[in-house]
Amino acid sequence: MCPPEYFTVEYSINPWMDPTQPTNTDLAMAQWTALKDAYEAAGHQVEVIEPQPGLPDMVFAANSGTVVDGRVLGSRFRAEQRAAEADHFRRWFLDNGYRHVVMPERTNEAEGDFAWTGTLLLAGTGFRTDPSAHAEAQEVLGVPVVSLHLIDPRYYHLDVALVVLDDQSPTPLVAYYPDAFSEGSQRVLRRLFPNAIIATAADAACLGINAVSDGRHVFLPIEATDLATQVKAHGFEPVLVDISELRKSGGGPKCCTMELRG
Ligand code: ARG
Repeated sequence: MCPPEYFTVEYSINPWMDPTQPTNTDLAMAQWTALKDAYEAAGHQVEVIEPQPGLPDMVFAANSGTVVDGRVLGSRFRAEQRAAEADHFRRWFLDNGYRHVVMPERTNEAEGDFAWTGTLLLAGTGFRTDPSAHAEAQEVLGVPVVSLHLIDPRYYHLDVALVVLDDQSPTPLVAYYPDAFSEGSQRVLRRLFPNAIIATAADAACLGINAVSDGRHVFLPIEATDLATQVKAHGFEPVLVDISELRKSGGGPKCCTMELRG
């Protein structure tokens, strides 16, 4: 995670971002700290990278690397304004003992568009990550990749349209909002995950699907009441967090969290 020390909305690269609206960096920091505290209270170790002035979106750590079995595929941002974030994370990985770190040639916003199900890497495209980055991820990480097409600009990253709730069992459990995907991708999702939780429009509209699951707890925005009820019915414990300030930039709990697998 990266503290939102320099968080503001000073440019607009998604429909949530309105630079004319004020932001409150202290409130963003308090909300981010509460999310980190919630992870730690659930028994997770959180690594923190140093925030950098001039990179107001660096708090969205999920966009800067995809780690599967200790292999790291770094990121390459679509927007110029975020480009410099990638190298700070590359250096963090090298300084923290990761040996297999590859920086991509293709535009790739990491866990914003890549979701690991335990067996497959689901890969979004349409707004940020280039489709050719999907094949690159398959080669670098050595995992099968399934491409999914995003069609609604409000849901510009895969991680605001789909969340993996359980990546341990042979049949992974995911929740997703169908309308965020093209017809063909909806059919792919139905085939792969016939028992998925179908998120509501209200869940999607509060960025409620931008959740993090450890297989037991699901950390999600307080407004995502439908999704909280559904995950509870599946035996998970919802942990509700307030991310109202970070949502002004189009982010939620998952965007703030890069998962270090292995
Ligand atoms: N303002 C950031 C952007 O548009 C938000 C990124 C949210 N991250 C995510 N994983 N969806 O790039």
